[in-house]
Amino acid sequence: MPEKPIVLVAEPIAEVGMEILRQSCETITPWQTGRKYTPEELAKANGIIIRLAKVTAEVMSAAPQLKVIGRHGVGVDNVDLKAATARGLPVVFTPSALTMVHAVAEQTVQLMLALGRHAVAEDQFVRQNRWGERSSLLGVEFYQKTLGVVGLGAIGKKVATICQKGLGMKIVAYDPFVKVAPPDLEVTLVDSLLEVLQQADVVTLHLPSTAETAYLIGAKELAAMKPTALLVNAARGSIVDSVALAEALQRGHLFGAALDVFEEEPPAPDHPLLTAPRTLFSPHVASMTGGSMARMAELVARQVVQVLSGERAPYVANPDVYASKG
Ligand code: GLV
Repeated sequence: MPEKPIVLVAEPIAEVGMEILRQSCETITPWQTGRKYTPEELAKANGIIIRLAKVTAEVMSAAPQLKVIGRHGVGVDNVDLKAATARGLPVVFTPSALTMVHAVAEQTVQLMLALGRHAVAEDQFVRQNRWGERSSLLGVEFYQKTLGVVGLGAIGKKVATICQKGLGMKIVAYDPFVKVAPPDLEVTLVDSLLEVLQQADVVTLHLPSTAETAYLIGAKELAAMKPTALLVNAARGSIVDSVALAEALQRGHLFGAALDVFEEEPPAPDHPLLTAPRTLFSPHVASMTGGSMARMAELVARQVVQVLSGERAPYVANPDVYASKG
């Protein structure tokens, strides 16, 4: 390694993270000049920090000096973990409850409310002098409605708490890994996804992108939802069959869908979802609040520095990488 390790920060991160890196590393920040990193920059990097950029096996082989991959965020589906482990590269990430849970949960709730109350149309009706059409904006009242939470990890639980304590909603949840209801939440845990889908007035997804969760919500599952239900996805696009969702909406099924994430990001301009009715979108920004971005930047930067100085980091997505090292 050169005297100071080189960290390629592939996408913008908060200054607090940059400061930590600069104390002991040289940094490469192509985004500061509005460009992507070059093959030469990748080739000399000892560490790489990414947000949504992919780190495939191919990217890793083009980076022979790499010692650590830092994922700014909780999902690690954009990193080929197997290839990283095979190369002995720890993949550090920022799953801690203090990093982005509140931000994602708040965006989830705001998507639900904004969809249910036609927030975009409400704004347009005022600006476009369409006051006379306001009677068409009949909204959903969430009080005493049922929120169906699929995935009761930290974010799912936070969403459930806000909706229960703030909006007076009832909560049903399905999570194969959660067998006992959290003590501080009144929640009915059910044994199958289908039960949540059938009972919920709002279905919210809080799962990682894995082989098991791919297309978990397809045509059959959408058909099982109440025709008046709302679907909210601020987790991963791969969980929902988006063509089936667009078809269901076109048929008039569901009150609507609010999505922060897409199967392909950004979605292709001709993707049927973009012209489907009763949809509300945001461009994968759920974790993007000032506080959350600062906490993630700090945690990922600290861990990258730790690995580069020969220490173990607290959050490693592929702990097997240490198996052979004892
Ligand atoms: C954001 O989507 C994340 O996984 O951190």
